[in-house]
Amino acid sequence: MTHTLFSSIELSGQTLSNRMVMAPMTRNRAPDTIANAMMAEHYAQRAGAGLIITEGTQISEQAVGYPATPGIFTQQHIDGWKLVTDAVHAKGGHVFAQLWHCGRISHPDFHHGDLPVAPSAIAAAGDAFTYEGLKPFITPRELDISEIGGIVEQYRHAAVYAMEAGFDGVEIHAANGYLIDQFLRDGSNRRTDSYGGSLENRVRLLVEVVTAVGAEIGFNKVGVRLSPINAFNDMSDSNPQATFNYIASSLSGRSLAYLHVVEVSMSGESAGGFDMQQLRNHFDGPYIANGGYDHARAEDAIATVAADLVAFGTPYLANPDLSERFRLNAELNEADQATFYGGDEHGYTDYPSLEAA
Ligand code: PHB
Repeated sequence: MTHTLFSSIELSGQTLSNRMVMAPMTRNRAPDTIANAMMAEHYAQRAGAGLIITEGTQISEQAVGYPATPGIFTQQHIDGWKLVTDAVHAKGGHVFAQLWHCGRISHPDFHHGDLPVAPSAIAAAGDAFTYEGLKPFITPRELDISEIGGIVEQYRHAAVYAMEAGFDGVEIHAANGYLIDQFLRDGSNRRTDSYGGSLENRVRLLVEVVTAVGAEIGFNKVGVRLSPINAFNDMSDSNPQATFNYIASSLSGRSLAYLHVVEVSMSGESAGGFDMQQLRNHFDGPYIANGGYDHARAEDAIATVAADLVAFGTPYLANPDLSERFRLNAELNEADQATFYGGDEHGYTDYPSLEAA
């Protein structure tokens, strides 16, 4: 049977009403790290998506890397996110929390002067966004092997809190140059212990996190996001196809909710011969494709079974009713870059729906 973007799909033991996913997008609108009513309105406006994945949400103080990004490790965090999950569920939507540890993509300003942590003491090229503006990334502190169990515990704890906040599941953010991705790719991981070197060693942290979180909240409530060719945040790997085929295999056979893949490089480089379908074929569960999809390409990916679901970022940012607009082949609102990061309702909850327009 041929599916379309508007075919329902079983995921995580629930029926999603369509195969459109709102991709995770950092918006820096949680000044005290606590999700708030404005965020609840933003997400609820977009509940027509089959699945919403929240913006990156830090799992601990140590995980922070940007101003005004939300967390999920205190009771106040739970109470804040409850506003969001209740509002999305009231509109019939589903929502996963994206669990985030920034690792080296951070700055001592967020850590009372302490160094951010990473697999290896290698600074990313570029600048951190701090409360005082851009500051060059500094060389992070290499995690001692004795600390890694504590990082896994931060993910487990955050996942428990996310479920208490009413989320339908969690996405482990293993993409885009943040902590887990720093372990996965050999440009940022030069460790010589059991967390570096071989593929088995580089994927160990991710597998330990997935195992700990899945054992706690159920494996079918856990998704994973990867970005095999994304050079954003100064990332590189000497053999991306072999690395990510191996990672996909390592996540297979565990009844995970999904694998979510950023198929492009946010820094503009092309795939350079990378075969996403090879990676996809190494994983046995639902596959969410993401990266520059428009309506036509998304329908094609679903029809040809290249993907089970498609995640949209900027189009969802600017079009709260994106699924309705696709259904009706209606025009789309343009996204306003100036209001992406930080600020108030403007450029956040005031993009018009078709009905309002
Ligand atoms: C960003 O804030 O620019 C950002 C955050 C998380 C991502 C990618 C980009 O995965």
